[in-house]
Amino acid sequence: MSESVDRPDPCSSTKAVHGGETKGHWGHTLTVPIAQTATYVFEDMTAVGEFAAGTNPQLDYGRYGNPTQTIAEKKLAEIEGAEAAILFSTGMAAVTTTLLAMLRSGQHTVVMDDCYRKTEQFCRMVLQKFDVETTFVTAGDFDALESAIQENTRVIVSESPTNPHLNVLDLERTVAVAKAHRLKVIIDSTFATPLNQRPLEFGVDVVIHSATKYLGGHNDLMAGAVLGAEPLVSAIKDYRGILGGVIDPHCAYLLIRGLKTFPLRMSRQNETALKIATYLEEQDRVRRVYYPGLPSHPQHKIAIVQMRGFGGVVSFDLDADLEGTVRFIDALRIPCIGASLGGVESIVSHPSSISYYELSREDRIAAGIDDELVRYSVGVEDADDLIADLHQALKAI
Ligand SMILES: Cc1ncc(COP(=O)(O)O)c(C=O)c1O
Repeated sequence: MSESVDRPDPCSSTKAVHGGETKGHWGHTLTVPIAQTATYVFEDMTAVGEFAAGTNPQLDYGRYGNPTQTIAEKKLAEIEGAEAAILFSTGMAAVTTTLLAMLRSGQHTVVMDDCYRKTEQFCRMVLQKFDVETTFVTAGDFDALESAIQENTRVIVSESPTNPHLNVLDLERTVAVAKAHRLKVIIDSTFATPLNQRPLEFGVDVVIHSATKYLGGHNDLMAGAVLGAEPLVSAIKDYRGILGGVIDPHCAYLLIRGLKTFPLRMSRQNETALKIATYLEEQDRVRRVYYPGLPSHPQHKIAIVQMRGFGGVVSFDLDADLEGTVRFIDALRIPCIGASLGGVESIVSHPSSISYYELSREDRIAAGIDDELVRYSVGVEDADDLIADLHQALKAI
């Protein structure tokens, strides 16, 4: 067991079950009712006038809020220990809305590489169109970070751990650099989740999650979350109202349901992933394992300090060519082959064919996406079954 798993749990199951909810829902239901509505009505014209004056707190239209969504947001804020949370239709809506809210034409952002490919594309293709330049630097290269910062830099963006190589960013050091230059720091904490890492405690300004992954946890919903201090989150919320990437009420309900078991699932996924990573590291047909919980991981010491558990994704390079890697993946019997992660079902991904297939082989390799790289998202199946399955599949290489 790792040193960091023994710390007190700030993200308790009690918060996950009861957080954000008040007893006595409409109709005395135990579960949170789904307010499936696009619009809200006013009692009379006096109520309309009071709404306009800001003295009637009711909602007017679904793009600006929803009672089911509000409960999901409050629950998530409690779990993350954040002052405020807002939900989006997808993780990408959370990323893009936040960046559009925090940057304007003529400004500059520094983004750590090895990030989700669509985030990178958003910076390269969309922000650039609006004259916001991005410099990509290697996550953890602080000299490169310092030299990338310009007069007009406003924001540092990174994932931690990163996707798919699971590099861990030193949050304390990143925040220190940002403070020295009066910059904001955004951390996409999707791979860590609030059970394992709480970037706000390190002084990070904004935390983003693709709630599609561990927070929803069942591979059945798409959602994104932005968390942080109230004034900043509220400013991003105004942009959500304009850009329109709001979560729908039924999805907010599914997220509430998923969050109730999130700490249970995540603890199990942390444990199983560590077992799998340890097992894989001992296998001849595995050249390298990327998992922050392993002492061999280059940022293991940082991970121990800033993470409670190391997440449910294990990436590894097989000692094989493309054909051998394909044989291995096809031989796996338990995980599904797919692009996502974080749910109760294990999913195996071949980044080179699934997320990076639009790139030429040379560009993929330049981006560190080798043919023999496999990303394994551990579900909640029995660890021994998953390991036995990996064992037989390695023989197929
Ligand atoms: C780290 C990370 N951030 C953001 C996203 C985007 O989330 P979504 O697919 O919910 O839009 C993903 C999706 O895989 C991701 O892995």
